[in-house]
Amino acid sequence: MEYKIAVLSGDGIGPEIVEQAIKVLKAVGKKFNHTFHFTQALVGAIAIDQMGDPFPEETFQLCMDSDAVLFGAIGDPKYDNDPKAMVRPEQGLLAMRKKLGLYANIRPVTTFPSLIHKSPLRTDLVEGADFVVVRELTGGIYFGEPRGRSEDLNKAYDTCVYTRPEVERILKLGFEYAAKRNKQLTVVDKANILATSRLWRETAQEMALSHPEIEVDYMFVDNAAMQIIQWPKKFDVMVTENMFGDILSDEASVITGSLGLLPSASVGIHTSVFEPIHGSYPQATGKDIANPLATVLSAAMLLEIALDLTVEAESVREVVDRSMSEGVVTEDISEGKAYKTSEVGDWLAKNL
Ligand code: IPM
Ligand code: MG
Repeated sequence: MEYKIAVLSGDGIGPEIVEQAIKVLKAVGKKFNHTFHFTQALVGAIAIDQMGDPFPEETFQLCMDSDAVLFGAIGDPKYDNDPKAMVRPEQGLLAMRKKLGLYANIRPVTTFPSLIHKSPLRTDLVEGADFVVVRELTGGIYFGEPRGRSEDLNKAYDTCVYTRPEVERILKLGFEYAAKRNKQLTVVDKANILATSRLWRETAQEMALSHPEIEVDYMFVDNAAMQIIQWPKKFDVMVTENMFGDILSDEASVITGSLGLLPSASVGIHTSVFEPIHGSYPQATGKDIANPLATVLSAAMLLEIALDLTVEAESVREVVDRSMSEGVVTEDISEGKAYKTSEVGDWLAKNL
């Protein structure tokens, strides 16, 4: 088959890690007889520099015309340290999510036995932890109106808004993931305080009636933040609103010690986007030292979720496992010789 892949490498280490994922996808194409057509487009700080817009119209059109989007990272320290900057790289990400209708962010949290010792938690707590965070991505306080500052600039406000259809579609996805996995769904909210959370909880309770096979529990977000650390193994699928999901998914990503290895998918109405959960790591830019595995594993999610190529996806995961057990990894996780980003990519492509 032939597939069109939009490549949005973005900033910092984005281009170097995405290049390795492309090598692996090309090897998949060779082995399984598919043709992937890769087309690059700008996003993030580099898009601001070159076109004055962090998510230019051409980039949007390319995404719409593609079967999937492979995304690197965005962000540049020159904007982080300038709160007054009018246009920011992050706006590109939010515009992309909104325009592509990417209402769900899926982050699987898995452990890799060879990396458990890097976890900030005790091995016995994290060993075998395996859950998925399903985060709502186009609603809530990230997008709610009104937002802004008073005229005298001494007051600022953001608004958290959810409609029932928005809540239903993300919960539906949560139920679907739970059904495919261990049939346990944790709905995370702050229903003791927030009206939006009460809408979430009410909607989830209604939907639970038609999913008797799923065990649903409800947890306040502060308690969830604690339990992720205390009993990470008890979770299967966690579904939550945009900002709670932003915070909890970062927390969840470090407990396994494998930050450089975790992929994510953003799915919704139009083309799905696949990206590593880590950022643009500006200090490492151009040094050929960044770990490309999270991006390669994002490409595996792309094969499985966007293109329905399950066997192909499995072959990518398998070769990634092998690179780790044979020690062909970058300096952040290596125990002996550290390989370069590009060397890891070459090895994966050759050994797939
Ligand atoms: C993420 C990031 C983004 C978010 C930022 C970069 C806008 O933290 O994808 O989790 O807050 O959603
Ligand atoms: Mg985040």
